Amino acid sequence: MTFLSRFWYGASVQTKYLLIIVPAALLLTIGGGAVRQSIAAERVLTMASEQFEEVGRRTALALSQEYWNYNTAQARAIMQSLMLIPTVVRVSSQELAQGVEVANSPFTFNFEDVELVDDDPSEQRTLHFPIQVKREQAEPETVGRFTIVYSLAEQNRRNRWVMMVTLITTAFAASIVIAILTYALNRAILLPIGRVSDSAGQSDADFVPIPLNTGDQLGRLVTAFNELRARHIESTRLLQAARDEAVAANAAKSAFLAMMSHELRTPLNAVIGYSEMLKEELADEGVTPTTMSDLDKIKSAGKHLLELINSVLDLSKIEAGKIELEIGSVSVQQLVDYATSTVHPLIEPNGNRLVVQVPPDIGQIDSDPTRLRQVLLNLLSNAAKFTRQGVITLTARREQAPGQPEQLIFDVQDTGIGMTPEQQGRLFQAFVQADSSTTREYGGTGLGLVISRRLCQLLGGDVTVTSVPGQGSCFTARVATQSHTQTTRG
Ligand SMILES: Nc1ncnc2c1ncn2[C@@H]1O[C@H](COP(=O)(O)OP(=O)(O)OP(=O)(O)O)[C@@H](O)[C@H]1O
Ligand SMILES: [Mg+2]
Repeated sequence: MTFLSRFWYGASVQTKYLLIIVPAALLLTIGGGAVRQSIAAERVLTMASEQFEEVGRRTALALSQEYWNYNTAQARAIMQSLMLIPTVVRVSSQELAQGVEVANSPFTFNFEDVELVDDDPSEQRTLHFPIQVKREQAEPETVGRFTIVYSLAEQNRRNRWVMMVTLITTAFAASIVIAILTYALNRAILLPIGRVSDSAGQSDADFVPIPLNTGDQLGRLVTAFNELRARHIESTRLLQAARDEAVAANAAKSAFLAMMSHELRTPLNAVIGYSEMLKEELADEGVTPTTMSDLDKIKSAGKHLLELINSVLDLSKIEAGKIELEIGSVSVQQLVDYATSTVHPLIEPNGNRLVVQVPPDIGQIDSDPTRLRQVLLNLLSNAAKFTRQGVITLTARREQAPGQPEQLIFDVQDTGIGMTPEQQGRLFQAFVQADSSTTREYGGTGLGLVISRRLCQLLGGDVTVTSVPGQGSCFTARVATQSHTQTTRG
């Protein structure tokens, strides 16, 4: 932006208006005055010339009369009387014989005004007139020449003065008109606009309707603004109320889920515990294999239910902000070993192979081992669940982006069913599976990824995904290697 455009951008409407209107108005009034005045001056000069033409013509006629009568004294008197005209510089007459000046003629005189002879010669005009006599039946004969020189200096001076006065008075009048216009513009337009823009910046609580009772466009604009603002305040209030209600309802839901899952866990633990005890007691008494297998089914159904309830409890704790992180030193290698051995029974049934790539110097990090295990188990069990006859690769590495804290990164890559971009868009939402048909085929609650992602976020990282349908997915979980809080309530 150049200086000018920057200035124009920042200038107030009033400044812009003045910058446009003042030069235009001054140019018009002063220019108009100047043109009018110079036309008038020109007319005065033309009139002066016409008068001298007439005076010269008459004098030449009178002189020819005197010439005819041979009355030198009268001729002198006539010419001398012309010198009484204030602007006449010089009058002269010469007697001519066939166009040539006659020396020492009694009709050759010259009168001049010494003061005016000093005038600027460029402001003097000279007129010549023939002195003619007409004998009977003959053509008029030129016997002499009469010359009159007059000065326009005085008239020009007067014209210049009038021009100056005209210009000063029109400029003064134009300034007064501009000042009145500016004041009117300010009151009628700029003031209400300024009020609207001030009011737009005010908070809802401070808003007072702008008073302006005119029926013009501006009045309608201000009325529309007042109404719009009032509607906005009302809808913000409604939204706020709806949001408060939703937040309260969500908190109540989380609290209810947390309470219910807690209450459900106690009897469920009893079911699992008693089914185990019963199995041991009945094993000693040698019951039928069918009874034993029924007991196994009770126990595994109970465990499955318990897992589910634990997930719901985790999520409601995270949502209610009540999850507790136990930060401590974690050996990455041990973490990986634990996760792979736990997930092992899930890998083989689908004909999958697990490849683990962890650098030997991966070392320790500062984090919550239980939660990290939970994340890894969830990503690995998903990979195992959604892959048949494929390879699941778990990679661990450290990474430090410039200016960012160091992170530990786990990639869980599979060669399974993969996901379309739309399915990926639905990931990480509670109780939502990427594709509802997969639930029917593969089971699951759709809570694992949400919990994993929230946990990683609490641990200073995130979970992201890349996937190609039919080719496989890669879930990346990252967490900070240094935690600033020892025990966090997230
Ligand atoms: N490795 C994967 N390959 C293909 N789809 C996946 C993969 N991991 C997750 N998904 C999709 O994301 C959905 C959500 O996964 P998430 O782990 O949150 O729930 P879930 O596995 O269905 O249930 P839960 O983990 O609670 O038992 C899955 O239902 C599946 O559609
Ligand atoms: Mg899962």
